[in-house]
Amino acid sequence: MSAEKSALSTPIVIGNWKMYKGISEAESFVKDLLDQLPNPSITVGLAVPFTLIRPVALQLKSSSVLTGAQNMHEASEGAYTGEIAASMIQDAGASFVILGHSERRRYFHETNQQINLKVKKAISSNLYAVLCIGETWDERQEGKTEDVLRKQILEGLEGVDISPYLLVAYEPLWAIGTGVTALPEAIQSVVAFCQSQFIQLFGESGSAIPLLYGGSVKPENCEELLAIPAVSGLLIGGASLTVDSLAKIIEIASVARKSSE
Ligand code: 13P
Repeated sequence: MSAEKSALSTPIVIGNWKMYKGISEAESFVKDLLDQLPNPSITVGLAVPFTLIRPVALQLKSSSVLTGAQNMHEASEGAYTGEIAASMIQDAGASFVILGHSERRRYFHETNQQINLKVKKAISSNLYAVLCIGETWDERQEGKTEDVLRKQILEGLEGVDISPYLLVAYEPLWAIGTGVTALPEAIQSVVAFCQSQFIQLFGESGSAIPLLYGGSVKPENCEELLAIPAVSGLLIGGASLTVDSLAKIIEIASVARKSSE
């Protein structure tokens, strides 16, 4: 795997629709989004339920907005009822996949080892892999944030070669869907810690791995989140479900990029 820089321009804004929206709702969302922002100047992605990959990807075909999945199986194919392979989501039009989201870890008991296999499969398939990591409130209170993240990074990236297809999202669990955003100072020290782990693993090129923040991101707080050094983008749940709030975040992120150039 080459160590070339990620092909994705930053900031990167990814909406994670989780288990929301049917086909017609998704289609009118994408139409409205493209009417407002036909070709965003930054990297924008929509991580949609499996059933929406094809229709959304078709609608986004002539735009720069990427379509993604929220999970996949690590095998190329096989007797795994209910699962879906990297090649299948690519075939449907996805170019990235979220892996190891805290909801997958929590409700579906995904382990770092399983997630590691998925990351390897995605990267070797030339699918952008967004590896999610994050600590619970209790872990934070007990002073275990760095231990938890170190383990998620070391085990999640075990044997993974540095790749432009690798992205990491730091999503503190206590900030997901709660309306509570981590304070910029807290995020800054955690993302700096994550980067130091990437550098230990991959050498200096580890510092080029795009690091996204997720957890109660909204139009009102996205500018200060993007101003945090080492935060290359945002992973957005609730606020990505309405066109107006997602478009607003994309607009703010586009300006943030221009002013940093
Ligand atoms: P919220 O933005 O709704 O807190 O969700 C964050 C998230 O889980 C994105 O993957």
